[in-house]
Amino acid sequence: MTDKQYVGAIDQGTTSTRFVVFDTTGAMVASHQVEHRQIYPEPGFVEHDPMEIRANTAGIIAEALKKGLIEPDQIAAVGITNQRETTVVWNRHTGRPLYNAIVWQDTRTADMCTALKQEGHEPLFKEKTGLPAASYFSGPKIRWILDNVEGARAAAEKGDALFGNMDTWLIWWLTGGPGKGVHVTDVTNASRTMLMNLETLAWDSELLKILDIPEKMLPRIMASSEVYGHAAQNWGLAPGTPVSGDLGDQQAALFGQVCFEPGEAKNTYGTGCFLLSNTGQKIIHSNHGLLTTLGYKIGNEPPVYALEGSVAVAGSLVQWLRDNLNLIRTSPEVEDLAKTVADNGGVYFVPAFSGLFAPHWDSSARGLIIGMTHYINKGHIARAALESTAFQVNEIFSAMEKDSGIPFKSLKVDGGMAANDLLMQFQADLVRVPVIRSAVLESTVLGAAYAAGLAVGFWSKKEDLRRHWKENGQWQPEMAAALRDKMCAQWDKAIKRAAGWKE
Ligand code: G3P
Repeated sequence: MTDKQYVGAIDQGTTSTRFVVFDTTGAMVASHQVEHRQIYPEPGFVEHDPMEIRANTAGIIAEALKKGLIEPDQIAAVGITNQRETTVVWNRHTGRPLYNAIVWQDTRTADMCTALKQEGHEPLFKEKTGLPAASYFSGPKIRWILDNVEGARAAAEKGDALFGNMDTWLIWWLTGGPGKGVHVTDVTNASRTMLMNLETLAWDSELLKILDIPEKMLPRIMASSEVYGHAAQNWGLAPGTPVSGDLGDQQAALFGQVCFEPGEAKNTYGTGCFLLSNTGQKIIHSNHGLLTTLGYKIGNEPPVYALEGSVAVAGSLVQWLRDNLNLIRTSPEVEDLAKTVADNGGVYFVPAFSGLFAPHWDSSARGLIIGMTHYINKGHIARAALESTAFQVNEIFSAMEKDSGIPFKSLKVDGGMAANDLLMQFQADLVRVPVIRSAVLESTVLGAAYAAGLAVGFWSKKEDLRRHWKENGQWQPEMAAALRDKMCAQWDKAIKRAAGWKE
C-alpha cells in the first residue's frame, strides 16, 4: 500500500465517459475518456447502448490509472456523475438490457406527456416533483419501455426487471452485477424521474399509479455522498474500493463549483446547458418555467434544493455542425469560423432538435434557421449557432432572476464550451453582468469526486473545499443596450416560429 491517496470519479456523459483522478487539493492528476455511439433510429429518437457504456467504463478506469502511474489501491473512493434522465431497464438475473438506453434528448414520449396534460395531471407532477410533464424526464421513458418492449411489463411486475439512470446502471455493475450489485440512486437523479416526491425524498405512489410503473423496479434512493457499496473484481480498481458519491451531472457541477450557499449559481455549457441556483433547504416552485430539483444531500445532513434552467441543445449543436454538415473538422474550430464575420448577418438559429426546454417546455418545437439572404456564408451560420446558446442561457437567466426576485451580480460558468471566448463575451453582453469562468472547466466530475471523498473522510468537511476554487477569466458586458435589446427581440420572434412545429 502506497502513501499517496487519490479519489476517482466516473463522468458518464451524453457523448462520452471519463474517469478522472483528483488529489487532496482537488487538482486533476490523470484522466481518460472514450466516446460512445449515438443511435438515432428515427427522427426524435436518441438511444445509447448500455453495454457499450459499461465496457467503456471499465476500460477508462484502467487506462487513466495507467496514464497517471497510479496503483488501484491508491484510490480511496470512487464517485459517479451522469447524464441525467437517460433510462435503462434490464434483467436483474442476466444484466442484459431489455432495450437500448432512451436518452434525455429523445422526444418519443411527447404524445404521452400531452395526454398527461390533457387529463389534468400536470399540476400534481409540478407540485410533487417540481417538473412539468415533458418527454425530457425518465418516468415517461420507463412507461414507453413497459408498453412497447415485449415481456417488459411482466418482468417488471415479477421483480425481474430493474430501472436505472446511468448512475444506477453503472453502480449495479461496479458493485458486482447479477446477484451482487446494489440497486441504488441518489436524490438528485431520482428528482429527474417525475416519480420522486421532493418533500419525502421517496417514490410517490400516486404518481407511480398515474404512470403505471411498478415500484419494485425502482432503485433505493440514497444521499449523494455516502457509501453505497464496494467495487467488485475486473473494474481496474482494488476490489473493495468504496463507491461513495453519486450526483446527476448538473448537480455535481453545482457541488464542484462549491455553490454551497443559497443564491450561489453556476452555468455548465455541455451537450446541453444547465443553470442551477442553490435555494438551500427551501423548495421554491417556479412561476417562470424553471425546474425545482434536488441540489445535493451529503450523508445525514438535510437536503439542499435548487432551481434549474435547462437548455437541451448547446454543445451538441456544434457537434452537429461538425458531423452532419461538415462545416468544421473539430468543435473548437467553430470559434475561428464564427470570427470570420463581424456579426450574425441577421441570421438566428433556434436549435429545437429535442423540442424546447426551459422556459418554454414545448416538445413539439423543431429547429429552424431564419434570416437567410444571399449575403450569408458559413461564418454567419457558425456565429448564429454559437449565439443560440447565449440567447437560450439569457432566457433562463432572466427567468431565474424573476423567480428568485434577486438580481444576480455575476454568472459563474464551466463546461467544455466555456473555453470559447467569443461565446463568453456575447454571453456577458446578453446577461449584462460579468461572466466568470472557473479554472476547472470539469466541475462536474470534480463534484462527484468531492462527494465520494467526503463520504470516506478523504476531505473532512465541504467548507474546506472552497479554497480549491479558482477563476480563469472574466468578461464584462460591452454591447450597447439598444443593439442587445434588438437582437433579443429578433430571437424571441424566431423562437415563436419554431414553437409547435411538429404535427
Ligand atoms: O439533463 C441532461 C444532462 O444531465 C446532460 O448533461 O453534460 O451530458 O450535456 P451533458
